[in-house]
Amino acid sequence: MKSFSMREGGRMPALGLGTWKSASGEAGEAVREAIRTGFRHFDCSPIYGNEAEIGAALADAIAAGEVERDELWITSKLWNSCHGRENVVPALRRTLADLRLSYVDLYLVHWPVALQERVGIGYAKTAADFRAPEEAPIAATWAGMEDAFSLGLCWNIGVSNFSVTKLESLARTARIAPAVDQVESHPYLQQTDLLRYCGDNGIVLTAFAPLGSGDRPARVRTADDPVLMSDPVIASIAASHGLSPAQVMIAWAIQRGTSLIPKSTNPARIAQNFAAASVTLSEREMEAIAGIDRNHRFFKGALWTVEGSPYTQASLWD
Ligand code: A2P
Repeated sequence: MKSFSMREGGRMPALGLGTWKSASGEAGEAVREAIRTGFRHFDCSPIYGNEAEIGAALADAIAAGEVERDELWITSKLWNSCHGRENVVPALRRTLADLRLSYVDLYLVHWPVALQERVGIGYAKTAADFRAPEEAPIAATWAGMEDAFSLGLCWNIGVSNFSVTKLESLARTARIAPAVDQVESHPYLQQTDLLRYCGDNGIVLTAFAPLGSGDRPARVRTADDPVLMSDPVIASIAASHGLSPAQVMIAWAIQRGTSLIPKSTNPARIAQNFAAASVTLSEREMEAIAGIDRNHRFFKGALWTVEGSPYTQASLWD
């Protein structure tokens, strides 16, 4: 398995298991199954509502001798209502208690969006639930991330859903540079400029929704969304290798130098996705996939840009 040597330590396997949308009662078993299959990288967040179940599964797998803690790469994220320097360490401690771990390998600022603390691990109900960027600056939240790092509660720190502009702004105040930017990326949203910026600055780009997230909730669907899984270019490459479209997208993502976290709770698809990490595509196939980019964002962050919110589509994706 290809892995990335991380700037603050350790190696992150390129392919991880996503756990957003993994339902209660399924998420833990998916993690156990993935560990048995060979996955070592798991992507979590408190907003996914399953960290405690995943923590129990990790503890069981370790107790059963299936894996050791130091072979695992566990990522979690700071939720939007926990921005602000003083809130980061307590939020991470809650996640660690749920995951039954003494540290995570990587802790990310989930969104460049701040909510009032009273919102808890949830979403804004009204515009008053937001905190404007001036009220809760990323620089202050990042100082809290650095505190968590200094305490040894996370071994690497990074961000998610950050544009090049936001990474540049963070670089002006950060004492510790972000190790990762986790963003939506797949053949219809290739994020080539961001990937180049990350490469030039020692940041690993982790792709979320790498398969086009066909199980995304209705609230984030729009009428113009294409179906990535049915793309004819991907389908023809898949057919010529005897692979599935998902496997081609996984191989492509690894080969172009990103990390990625496809979600599955299905044992056969978990195994299929893991096997895809060993697939090599030809130069021509890589170019053919490069040619189908549509700059199409499935996750527009519309939840954060409702009427009256201090965040707009233009400011979110600046
Ligand atoms: P399931 O969990 O039933 O396997 P993304 O990671 O882009 O958010 O995509 C997740 C979606 O893709 C889920 O609906 C998941 O379903 C599905 N999926 C994951 N792996 C595969 C695969 N190898 N083939 C087809 N669908 C897959």
